[in-house]
Amino acid sequence: MTQDQARQRIAELSEELEQHNYNYYILAKPTISDYEFDMKLEELARLEKEFPEFLSPASPTQRVGGGITKEFKTVEHRYPMLSLSNSYSREEIEEFINRIKKSIEGELEFCCELKFDGLSISLQYENGLLVRAVTRGDGTRGDDVTTNVRTIRTVPLKLHGDFPEFFEMRGEIVMPFESFNRLNEARAEAEEDLFANPRNAAAGTLKLQDSKEVARRKLDNYCYYMMMDGLENRYQTHYESLMAARKWGFNISNFIALCKSTEEIFEFIDYWDEKRHELPFAIDGIVLKVNSYAQQRALGYTAKSPKWAIAYKFKAEEVETELQSVDFQVGRHGTITPVANLAPVQLAGTTVKRATLNNEDFIHQFDLHYGDTVTVVKGGEIIPKIIGVNLDKRQEGAKPVEFVKTCPICGTQLVQNEGEAAWYCPNSSGCSPQIRGRIEHFIGRKAMNIESLGEGKVELLYQEGLVRNVADLYDLTFEKLYGLEKVITIEDEFSLMPVATRKVSFKEKTAQNILDALEKSKSVPFERVLFALGIKFVGESVAKVLAKALHDIDHIISASVEEMTEINEIGEKIALSVRSFFDDERNIEIVNRLKAKGLQFAITEQAASDKEQVLAGKTFVVSGVFVNYSRDGIKETIEAYGGKNVGSISSKTDYVLAGEKMGPEKRKKAEFLGIPIITEAEFDAMIGVKREAEETGLLF
Ligand code: IVH
Repeated sequence: MTQDQARQRIAELSEELEQHNYNYYILAKPTISDYEFDMKLEELARLEKEFPEFLSPASPTQRVGGGITKEFKTVEHRYPMLSLSNSYSREEIEEFINRIKKSIEGELEFCCELKFDGLSISLQYENGLLVRAVTRGDGTRGDDVTTNVRTIRTVPLKLHGDFPEFFEMRGEIVMPFESFNRLNEARAEAEEDLFANPRNAAAGTLKLQDSKEVARRKLDNYCYYMMMDGLENRYQTHYESLMAARKWGFNISNFIALCKSTEEIFEFIDYWDEKRHELPFAIDGIVLKVNSYAQQRALGYTAKSPKWAIAYKFKAEEVETELQSVDFQVGRHGTITPVANLAPVQLAGTTVKRATLNNEDFIHQFDLHYGDTVTVVKGGEIIPKIIGVNLDKRQEGAKPVEFVKTCPICGTQLVQNEGEAAWYCPNSSGCSPQIRGRIEHFIGRKAMNIESLGEGKVELLYQEGLVRNVADLYDLTFEKLYGLEKVITIEDEFSLMPVATRKVSFKEKTAQNILDALEKSKSVPFERVLFALGIKFVGESVAKVLAKALHDIDHIISASVEEMTEINEIGEKIALSVRSFFDDERNIEIVNRLKAKGLQFAITEQAASDKEQVLAGKTFVVSGVFVNYSRDGIKETIEAYGGKNVGSISSKTDYVLAGEKMGPEKRKKAEFLGIPIITEAEFDAMIGVKREAEETGLLF
């Protein structure tokens, strides 16, 4: 193929594929099969590889991601990104409309739109090509997230038609519920923290360094506002500009109404307040905008928001329901979590039957009684929360909810650590949910990855008395496994009440698969073995840090609390937990047995190598006192990850890392300069250190 032919074919394929993208993602009317699409995309990728001089950043191949953003550059917005004034009542909306009616002559028309619950984005186009995507930031300066935004299918990379030479589209990046649920399911499986709502998930995703992962998470974009010099000369109304943008390739919502009267506006609001749960993404209100640009200009702006627009925010939905009973759930580390069983009730599109009661303090705070009428909310969060009790409805003689004193499973007296609200069952080696929980954690995908030993099988091995701790797994033989069969009862994960039965049997192949997987697990690297042991507060990343710093299990077993806290990222809480785990003879015995079976208990050369320079180029000002680091420790950690410490805050500072007791002057200065103030936990997240949260085990 000659250069000319290649250029032509690349242009042809790019054009065609972008049109198919538009048909599929924006019009929802695909005209070719996924297979045909993939074939064309592959051909394009092949040609671009062979003729890299013709690879354009607007190419459809760029949508799958691949680019890494080491550092998000902060850039100034050409036009500031304002916010909207909010209203929560009909009266406020009526006042807004009347105020405008008084100051404006001529007929009034409002463009009523959905208020997307995501993050605002500014998309800049030059000659029809997306050149830059910037987050809102502080409204004046935001982060350049172009590489990540290019992967979003509903963001056009190349426009069609009579678009202006330079202009900006403002819109919202959202994570549809489907993507959100998929992401959280995967995170739950990997024992990673869940995102509380799609907005947080979208924000976290947009700031990922790896754009391939951004592409996988499938974000979406809706545009709702155009900005350019001389916009009014081109269009008379906001609505007209949106319709033009739709023709050029932008994703503009189909749910926009032009309303002339207050009644029509309320009709739109009421309709969406009810129907919003049928949308595939979250909205948190309705936006009203004066449609005419001339009228918008006459109304003007305040320092923060346009006077010609207002957001009506929907109320977080809440319902009253009956607290029927309370279960006390036992976690892997013995933590007791009270869970409320509620009379099933519809809330924000789902049926709610349970809510966490967190701990004993929470029960006391509301003075909960059985049969109480409680108020439950679901405000964009996934876990319903109890926010109040209706005392007027309390039945006479209702019994207060009492926290159990003994373990609901094994009957052992519960204990409480000083300063903590949680109660624990200390019978770690004799309490079945703790034992099974530890074994299930051990075989998990991120730990020893013994997939062929799924849930039901662990239960059977436990019930048969074959496996009582993780070392017993490696004593299993074909003779012990083959032929085992039992109908086991599956318990509800919250109430531990029997809910179903399942027949589990070990045929020849199953037995062999298990033994093979166990054998294979002997080469799982040390840091994962350490994580698999299930030491409290030793999550995946802490295990890695410990393994890298102390190299093998013997050094970890013999390390004092002081020695451990000298390691950056290891605080006293973790160190004490590790110490107490290895002070228990039973755990030492398990480790010795696992060692004898040939599991990895020392780090390999490669894993011991340096940390990723994820903070390269970033400057930090450290202020205050930290929980898991000393002042010098946190500074060393910044440097170990490639960052730089500076003494005082200036406009060049990237982050102020704030501990407890941060000086108020520093805070004021940082806020004035718009420099992000981050917490210790946010810093940990930046360098990928996860500290295992107090276990609740609750997933709804
Ligand atoms: S218009 C000058 N329209 O709400 C005002 N904003 O609270 C430009 N939002 O930062 C914004 N849906 O992120 C507009 N249909 C919509 C919107 C919308 C969601 C967000 C946007 C803005 C925030 C203001």
